[in-house]
Amino acid sequence: MLQFTEYKLPIVKIKTDFDVQIFIKREDLIHPKISGNKFWKLFFNVNQYLGLKPENPLLITFGGAFSNHIASVSAFGKQFDIPTKGIIRGDELENHWQNNPTLLEASRNGMQFFFVSREDYQNKEKLTQEFSEKYPNALIIPEGGSNEMAVEGVQYMLGNDTKDFDYLCTAVGTGGTVAGISKFAEEHQKVVGIKVVKDDSLQKTIWEWSMRNNFELIDADENRYGKISDENIRFINWFYNEYDIPLDPIYTGKMLQKIFDLAEKGFFPKGSKILTFHTGGLQGIKGANQFLRGKNRPLIDFESLIF
Ligand SMILES: Cc1ncc(COP(=O)(O)O)c(C=O)c1O
Repeated sequence: MLQFTEYKLPIVKIKTDFDVQIFIKREDLIHPKISGNKFWKLFFNVNQYLGLKPENPLLITFGGAFSNHIASVSAFGKQFDIPTKGIIRGDELENHWQNNPTLLEASRNGMQFFFVSREDYQNKEKLTQEFSEKYPNALIIPEGGSNEMAVEGVQYMLGNDTKDFDYLCTAVGTGGTVAGISKFAEEHQKVVGIKVVKDDSLQKTIWEWSMRNNFELIDADENRYGKISDENIRFINWFYNEYDIPLDPIYTGKMLQKIFDLAEKGFFPKGSKILTFHTGGLQGIKGANQFLRGKNRPLIDFESLIF
């Protein structure tokens, strides 16, 4: 079983001219490689699994080539000495995955890859079935790591230090994180999830996990998953220069830009105390810059700070 530790992560005030107060909780500092929401989404899933004392424990999961989840599962496996396998979207990567910073790092952490075509990747049920027949002792973790146990784990992103805020805000991909925040928020708190993916089923999925009506989902300015806008890159670079906090271009950068926009437009009542969660994802900056460099587009300035 894994050792449970409570972490006290900093909540930092973001000084702005808005008529509300904005803060950021640095969940990205929880672990250098298993950062942000990923740590808590994995912790209880893996702990419950290890509690069953499986013979030859093994973690298997899914993800795209730049996935924070793939990076985190591989690092989790390395940290706790559990072998990992990743089912990766895109069989074109089979012969040159070494050029991809996320996969290179995951491989260095000991993850073994199975590349599948984009078409086959859509059918996760079939893949899960195939892999569970082949590796009956393995824990198969869904894409993005979201499931009921993950939602339970997210409660540890909340504590006495988050109780006074009026709004709790996070980026939304597969929905587990915002569902956990919604489920464990105080009665008086409202939850805002900024969607970085076009997925109309998320409202229902999140509600089924949280069973509360205290959350609202709002689209990021660019809500096509993985798409990066120059405007957001400029915001991320500005934010870093202004506040010394690095954001990523797939989740936290989009979320903070939207929260600033909402604050400016008067979405939050005057005087509200707003807490945003820095859910990590910084490993993705190298891959993002590699892509942007190839297109001659503006880059994230602080790549050299990222491990
Ligand atoms: C950095 C980052 N922030 C936010 C999210 C969104 O979390 P969820 O998939 O639980 O909605 C993810 C995905 O796990 C992520 O990698």
